[in-house]
Amino acid sequence: MKELRTLFVCQACGAQARKWFGQCPDCGAWNSLVEEAAPAVAGVAAGRVPLAGSATAQRYDQVETADAERQASGIGELDRVLGGGIVPGSAVLLGGEPGIGKSTLLLQMAAAVARTLGPVLYASGEESVQQLKMRGDRLGLGAPPLYLLAETCLERIVEEAERVKPVVLIVDSIQTVFSLKLQSAPGSIGQVRTAAADLLFIAKGRNLPIFLVGHVTKDGSLAGPKVLEHVVDTVLYFEGERHHSHRVIRAVKNRFGAVSELGVFDMTGSGLRGVPNPSQLFLAERVANAPGSAVLCSVEGSRPILVEVQALVSGGAYGTARRTASGLDHNRLSLLLAVLEKRAGLSLAGEDVFLNMAGGLTVNEPGGRPGGDCGRGFQPAQSAGAVRYRRVRRGRPLGRGARCGTRGPAAPGGGAARIHALRHAGQQLRAGGRRRGLRAGGGRHRRGGAGGVA
Ligand code: TYD
Ligand code: MG
Repeated sequence: MKELRTLFVCQACGAQARKWFGQCPDCGAWNSLVEEAAPAVAGVAAGRVPLAGSATAQRYDQVETADAERQASGIGELDRVLGGGIVPGSAVLLGGEPGIGKSTLLLQMAAAVARTLGPVLYASGEESVQQLKMRGDRLGLGAPPLYLLAETCLERIVEEAERVKPVVLIVDSIQTVFSLKLQSAPGSIGQVRTAAADLLFIAKGRNLPIFLVGHVTKDGSLAGPKVLEHVVDTVLYFEGERHHSHRVIRAVKNRFGAVSELGVFDMTGSGLRGVPNPSQLFLAERVANAPGSAVLCSVEGSRPILVEVQALVSGGAYGTARRTASGLDHNRLSLLLAVLEKRAGLSLAGEDVFLNMAGGLTVNEPGGRPGGDCGRGFQPAQSAGAVRYRRVRRGRPLGRGARCGTRGPAAPGGGAARIHALRHAGQQLRAGGRRRGLRAGGGRHRRGGAGGVA
C-alpha cells in the first residue's frame, strides 16, 4: 500500500481527509483544511515516559489509592475554582481573551507555589525571559525558585522539565508550542493536539500538575481542536470587561471539583488580587434608586453574589425593535418581555430593550436563564430573577383583581413565582409613574398603549 505522507486536517474540528476539500465533510466549515505531515504510526510513543502505575489491568479492589492531596496554589480564588487546590498530575487549561490577565495570574501563582512547594517551570512562547522578569518585578514576586524559559519547541520544554524537576509546569500558550515530530505550523490543530498529548503524558507519568494557556477565538471558544478540552482535566475561562478592573474565572470542566464555582479578582497596578466579597465590587458603582437598575442575587457555586442588572427601554425609531442582552441569556430577555406583554399589560412591541449585567459578569443563575435550568440540575429558587423594568414607557395598567393563573414554563427554579414577581413589577411601574406625575398623554398612539409611565 502506498505510504501516506500528508493528510488534510480540518482546523475547526480535527477531521482528517486524504485530499483537500473546500468545505470540511465532517463539520461543514469552509476553507479549514490544512495539509499536515501524516504522523508516523510506529514509534510515536518512543521517548515518552511510562504512565504512573502498571500497564497491566488491575482488579478494582486491589488498586491502591493514595489520597490525592491537593496543593494550595497560594491564590485563594484560584483554589476555589480548581475545587480546593492543585491536584497532582492534573492538566489545567486556562482560556481567555488577549490581555485579560492569564499570564499575570499564572506568574503570580507560579511564584506563590515556588515559595511554598518547590521549583516551578514557566515556559513562555509569547514573552522573553526579560519581559517576564519585568512583569514579575512589577508584581513584587521576590526571589522564589521560579524558572523561566522562553521556548516554543515542545521537546526543549520537556527536556528542561526533566532537568529542573518542577512541582508545577506552566506552558504559555499551547498555541505557540510546536513539536519537531510534525511539520505543520504552531497553532495548527495537529501541533496543538500533539503538544497537549505529550504534555499530558508527562503530567500523568510524573504526577506533575500542568497549566496550559489557551487562546480564544472571536466567538469566545478556545482556539484549536475541541479535543483539547476533552484531554485536559480542567478547563478554566478567564473573563472580564476591558474597561473594568475586575476579572472572573470560572470552570467549564473540572474532573476534580464543581464547575459552578466562580473566582473573582481585581486587576490592580501590582497584579491580580482575589476579591473575597464580590458583591461589594459588583455593586460599587451602582447609584441607589437609579431608574432601570435592579439587584439580582445569583448563586454561583457555594456563594451568592449580588449583581446589578441594568435595563433600558426606549422608543424604537425604525422597523423591528432591538433587543440587546449582555451578560444574560437573550432568550431569557425575550421570555421576560413576552410575560410583561401578556400578563403585565405592557406594550413593548415597538420599543428597543437593552439589558446589561453591570461589571461584565455572565450570569448562569437559573433566575437569569429561561426554563430555570442551569444545566447543573435542580436549584432552589433563591432569587426570583425578575428584572425590574423601572423605565418602561407606555404600559397599560393591570386590571384590578387580575389574577395571574398561569404557570411559567416547566421551571424547577419556580417559574410561577417569577411571573408573579413580574406582575408585581408591572404594578410598581404604574405606581412609580403616577407618583412622578408622568402619565402618558401625548405622543404616538401605540398598540395597547393606553396609559403609561416614563
Ligand atoms: P496579561 O497577563 O499579559 O494578559 P494575557 O496573558 O491574558 O494576554 O495581562 C495584561 C494586562 O494586564 C494588560 O492590559 C495590563 C494589565 N496588568 C495590570 O493591570 N497590572 C499588572 O500588574 C499587570 C502585570 C498587568
Ligand atoms: Mg499572555
